Amino acid sequence: MKILITGSTGMLGTALINQLTNLNFDVKLTSRRKPVTPGQFEWVYSDLLTGDGLEEAVKDVEVVIHAATSPLKKSRLIDVSGLERFLTKLEDIKHFIYPSIVGIEDIPFKYYKLKCEAEDLLKNSSIPYTIVRATQFHDFVDHLLLSKPLFKRYIIPGSIKFQSVDVGDFAKHLIELIEKGPQGRTDDFGGPEIMSLREMAKLKIHVNNVPNKIVSISLPGKLYKSLVNGKNTNKLRQVGKLTFEEYLSRKLE
Ligand SMILES: NC(=O)c1ccc[n+]([C@@H]2O[C@H](COP(=O)([O-])OP(=O)(O)OC[C@H]3O[C@@H](n4cnc5c(N)ncnc54)[C@H](OP(=O)(O)O)[C@@H]3O)[C@@H](O)[C@H]2O)c1
Repeated sequence: MKILITGSTGMLGTALINQLTNLNFDVKLTSRRKPVTPGQFEWVYSDLLTGDGLEEAVKDVEVVIHAATSPLKKSRLIDVSGLERFLTKLEDIKHFIYPSIVGIEDIPFKYYKLKCEAEDLLKNSSIPYTIVRATQFHDFVDHLLLSKPLFKRYIIPGSIKFQSVDVGDFAKHLIELIEKGPQGRTDDFGGPEIMSLREMAKLKIHVNNVPNKIVSISLPGKLYKSLVNGKNTNKLRQVGKLTFEEYLSRKLE
């Protein structure tokens, strides 16, 4: 069974490559850039924006894990129209696995609206699929909000909540779904703990043993409110194993 991983240079794509390296799957990778460490796997160029290389990418493939995305640039063209065109090339596919994000219909953010549209494309297609929503990855929260203290201060919206998850745990879960076959929309995959960003910043200060302070700010708007209310979390699905603290400690090793 040949498995295609799209987005093979991304956070999730890289974690999937790492997990698949020790397993007995026939794997093909695709993205625009070549992954730095593709392991022993075949890689082909493709671009969801132009459609270039998609035919070659899907050739002989039975399962796709679609980890390609573009949250910041040309998102609609890549994540919705690009996906729509991609699906037309996949008529004989046995299983299309689509990683999505917890709470997207309740969080007023353009990229999340597009993720809802992408989910609908799959639901309305004839392709056997699994949609699995995850919470934000540890790396994502860490890099986006806790990587640049200003004058030794984390100036952050401290009340917003996250249930961040290890991308490796999520990649492992997606690989397990290959064996299970198409599930439709399946259970969310959340991290082990729900924390405020202030609590996450405190942990980072403690683990890294740095004298940074936390300055918590409030923000206007519905997006901020939805994250303060934890709409991006699912307390019934605390299934990821690696905690944020363990993730931070591991980075120091
Ligand atoms: N990040 C999170 O916290 C999080 C949480 C839950 C779910 N998810 C979901 O998990 C999936 C993967 O997210 P990620 O964070 O791993 O994304 P990422 O790190 O931004 O990686 C995106 C990948 O998409 C590829 N890509 C971008 N534009 C492309 C194009 N025009 N054609 C083909 N490939 C293109 C990129 O490779 P090239 O630039 O080399 O083409 C890259 O490999 C997404 O569906 C996301 O919504 C993410």
